[in-house]
Amino acid sequence: MSVANGDDLEITSRTRVHRFPQRGKYDLETIYGILDMSPMAHISFIKDGMPALLPMTFWRVDDVIYFHGAAKNRMFGSFDGLPSICFTATLLDGFVAARDALHHSLNYRCVIAYGEAEEVTDPTEKLQGLKNLVDRFYPDRWNRIQPPSQSEFERVTMYKFQLKEASAKIAAEEAPYPDFTDVKVWSGIIPVGLRMGEPVFAPGIDPASVPPQDFSNIEYVTGKRTIDAGSFDAPAAKPGHAADSEDRVPGPAFAFYSPPLGGQIETVFRSADGSSKTVKATVGETLLVAAKTAGIVGVVGDCGGCAVCGTCHVVVSDEWQQSFGGANEWEAEVLEYVEGGRQPGSRLACQMVISEEMNGLVVTVPEAQR
Ligand code: FES
Repeated sequence: MSVANGDDLEITSRTRVHRFPQRGKYDLETIYGILDMSPMAHISFIKDGMPALLPMTFWRVDDVIYFHGAAKNRMFGSFDGLPSICFTATLLDGFVAARDALHHSLNYRCVIAYGEAEEVTDPTEKLQGLKNLVDRFYPDRWNRIQPPSQSEFERVTMYKFQLKEASAKIAAEEAPYPDFTDVKVWSGIIPVGLRMGEPVFAPGIDPASVPPQDFSNIEYVTGKRTIDAGSFDAPAAKPGHAADSEDRVPGPAFAFYSPPLGGQIETVFRSADGSSKTVKATVGETLLVAAKTAGIVGVVGDCGGCAVCGTCHVVVSDEWQQSFGGANEWEAEVLEYVEGGRQPGSRLACQMVISEEMNGLVVTVPEAQR
């Protein structure tokens, strides 16, 4: 049975907040509010007897949390028989600079939840889940985009767990620890938050044709606007927690909407049929962003650049392979599962940050991804 908004969750030994217990919150209004403003969460689990953790996006339907990934994701095979996963979502609200070393800290809101992950096997629920995922950030967009094909649908694995054992913790200092006033150094709080940059539209898109609703929830999550009643399935953040205020100090950019960071270079994307396309890439962004902006077919980026899905797989041409350090350890693991298999020069485009030295880079999009 769903738990009604406004209820408190039972406090367990795992969810009780011990350190600064006054910061602990167990009511669903607070927990839902933080979750619904969090674009991402981290899920930890045990893999081969060792702790592991992955960043993910997620969505909530009442008291059920859903998340998904590529069917070959190493995480999912680890869930069977696990009594519980641990899930956490955190919003950073500020840096607290004190006059002494011990009291430097952060303002933040977080939720930690434990639950038994269960695979979503009902196709109707799974399809509805994908719709909820898209519509979470872009209201009603699902009805305007191309639905997944059968094979795409089967390549996705979805899990869910019920929010029965969870707590929130909120650190919202209004002023740093007041002692040590004889120490002549400034103290204070530097508010931070997500920031939505200027959208970078795909070629041929008239910005005037983009429905404002497509940005409304991202604007809400990034604190640019206050939510309109009914446009988002979430209560507003608590007063004083600033995530929905107009006056936030710009923080890190969000996903694909990063503003340009530097000069531009040219990269060449080849496809397996021999055709190629030269695209402009901005220094500081990832090759995935450059490919997506240019509409390169086959560079998908299902996980949004978290190095989890492997759908941004590209193969660096022979002459360029010496110029790169190669895949990092995590990336290498994901590359073991990419469609069509790993090749010499395989990389995840989401892990390749464009630099001036990459001008003229040539990569191939593997046939299996098209
Ligand atoms: Fe998913 Fe690169 S975008 S692994």
